[in-house]
Amino acid sequence: MALSALVAGGAVAAGGGGHKGKPANPGIEGKVNALLGKMTTDEKLEQLQLEADWQINDSEAAKGVGGVFSLTDPQKINHFQHVAVEQSRLHIPILFAFDTIHGFRTIFPIPLGEASSFDPDVATADDTYAARETAATGLKQIYSPMVDISHEPRWGRISEGAGEDPYLGSVIAAARVQAAQGSDYSAMDKVVTSPKHFAAYGQPEGGREYNTTDMSVQRLWNLYLPPFKAAVDAGADTAMCSFNAINGVAGCGNPETETEILKKQWGMDGFIESDYTAVNELINHGVAADGADAARVALNAGTDMEMVSTNYVDSGKQLLADHLVSMKRIDDAVRRILRVKFRAGLFDQPYVDWQAADSKQLLPDAVAAARKAAGRSMVLLKNNGGTLPLDPTKSVAVIGPLGDNQHDMLGPWWGTGRDQDAVTVFDGIKAQDPNTTFTPGCEILDKDPPDPPNDECGSDAGFPAAVAAAQAAQQVVLALGETRGESGEAESRSDIDLPGKQQELIDMIKATGKPFVVVLFNGRPLTLTKVDAAAPAILEAWFGGVQAGNAVADVLFGAVNPGGKLPVTFPRSVGQVPIYYNHEPTGRPCDPTFKWNSRYRDIPTCAPLYPFGFGLSYTTFAISNLTLSSQTMPSHGSVTATVDVKNTGTRSGDEVVQLYIHDPVATISQPVRRLRGFQRVTLAPGETKTVTFTLDRSDVGFYDNSGKFVVEPGAIDVYAGDSSEATLKQSFTVTP
Ligand code: BGC
Repeated sequence: MALSALVAGGAVAAGGGGHKGKPANPGIEGKVNALLGKMTTDEKLEQLQLEADWQINDSEAAKGVGGVFSLTDPQKINHFQHVAVEQSRLHIPILFAFDTIHGFRTIFPIPLGEASSFDPDVATADDTYAARETAATGLKQIYSPMVDISHEPRWGRISEGAGEDPYLGSVIAAARVQAAQGSDYSAMDKVVTSPKHFAAYGQPEGGREYNTTDMSVQRLWNLYLPPFKAAVDAGADTAMCSFNAINGVAGCGNPETETEILKKQWGMDGFIESDYTAVNELINHGVAADGADAARVALNAGTDMEMVSTNYVDSGKQLLADHLVSMKRIDDAVRRILRVKFRAGLFDQPYVDWQAADSKQLLPDAVAAARKAAGRSMVLLKNNGGTLPLDPTKSVAVIGPLGDNQHDMLGPWWGTGRDQDAVTVFDGIKAQDPNTTFTPGCEILDKDPPDPPNDECGSDAGFPAAVAAAQAAQQVVLALGETRGESGEAESRSDIDLPGKQQELIDMIKATGKPFVVVLFNGRPLTLTKVDAAAPAILEAWFGGVQAGNAVADVLFGAVNPGGKLPVTFPRSVGQVPIYYNHEPTGRPCDPTFKWNSRYRDIPTCAPLYPFGFGLSYTTFAISNLTLSSQTMPSHGSVTATVDVKNTGTRSGDEVVQLYIHDPVATISQPVRRLRGFQRVTLAPGETKTVTFTLDRSDVGFYDNSGKFVVEPGAIDVYAGDSSEATLKQSFTVTP
């Protein structure tokens, strides 16, 4: 479905310039120009500086620094804002920013988890409350949403994004931007967003953080740019350029992506900030000789604000004198920053009511939304013999290193969340079934680098106690996974099995013969082949945030029927990586039984363990009757696909109906499937609903290897079903 249809309902940022052909706000543009006209070169360069919490002080604030990030004490924010506004010559307020990625104080599930909900309302709820809490603290910009598409489970930051699919990623990106900014981000409970990391940061070679990326033009446009475009179309007024290089061009020194695409083609008239010291790192990239040269490359490429390193302020005047950077470019960067500050209302309302900030955090409505979001984000991967839901009248043994853990439930970007805010699995289950015990089995301590046997469930000394606890209970919940420190930035893993001896713990519990479920907390797809072989039931709970334990209990006991689907492929073995559903075909498609085909000799299938879009429920569904409104679609017309979904079980539940297309004959090979529509529906037992999707040129077209969007006449296959392995099929023909 065309994204425009999905984002059209949401208003776009108000004030000043504006995207998608929205006229500039003459009031704001006039103010920006008047202010710019009064600024000295030094004052202009100061606006281009973005300082960390450890860099800001009174003298920096009085000089008129442009932005500050990671400061979260509202009293200090208010203090520095007073200094900037009252003591700097032109009284320009500071833009305070923060990484509000999955909540500010009320921590929601990690974004990869929220994407599993296939429900943009989950992302909307997260960003609505997150913006309220962030703005109440005096922060007006968030370095979010993180919209990097990734095929790399080894990469720790896959946890921060929406997974491997550009369509799902675009829907979620737009929802987040609209929720955080509203129709006017000067509102007291709104902030300006900064989609990141521009661009293609999600595909580092080998999955190793910050590593280089070699990227075809068609992939860049078809897979990696769409969520950024969706975010900009939804009103995102700032963006962050990335650490990595694509095709030898570093993200913060890339005129093509920054100036040509983001600013000129897409019309983003706010600013681009660099990632942390990324301007200085242009020297390490081998594209700048020294700090001044790095400033030259970054400024001329389109990076407007420099985070942490200080090459712009240090060398800007010299670069101007040497005609290596123009005043026109400096003025453009300053204008963009001032424009966002005016739109954010900072000149009218620079200060925060810091004494009230605490009263806006962790409020009951936000906490309730976090619980709901966590429940909707969980994915039931296996449920043999009706192991789940558990019976709340029977005793439960919670076992495992993450079973009574608050710290890790908050995930890798915990904002200002506190461990004591989080509900553990043990507490959540006990609240619904008082006859519950907890035994850790082993410890998972998050040492970096790992320090076995003391870390990562390295010791089996606690296993006998765990076995005894299992034997004493009627049902077992095994809470396993990674620590929050094992995912996120700079946390690449070469082995994505369950860390340490957790698999042995599963095997010991299995040997007791008690019914058990493995509940997983993790920030990436893990290789679960052995877990799947041993466990009768597996629930992917991700890192669920402050309400993780309650939400797990809701799902385990059936108050919430799981309806999430995987937003990313789970491989059988790390050797299959990268493995993703929307791959191009090969001349010799996989046939594991025949040598001269695209296959691994040591894996009996080419399939992943769990495909994209997969997830079970406590009820069953039948999807049928895929019908197209027409057998042909003029290239500027549309076709409607309808499909029926029926709850064939005995419990109410959610199914995510998914629509994929494939272009079987094109000038460049097209992915075997591409998601172009999804809808999560709730159905009572026996109930049927008809779901409708509209396809148009934005769905059937693709970007070619010159970055041009083309719609080619010919057949389009349409698939509908409950995962990327959907089998219902119809076809239509695109006519010129
Ligand atoms: C990360 C960014 C983040 C920035 C500021 C960097 O290390 O890559 O995602 O926004 O730090 O905290």
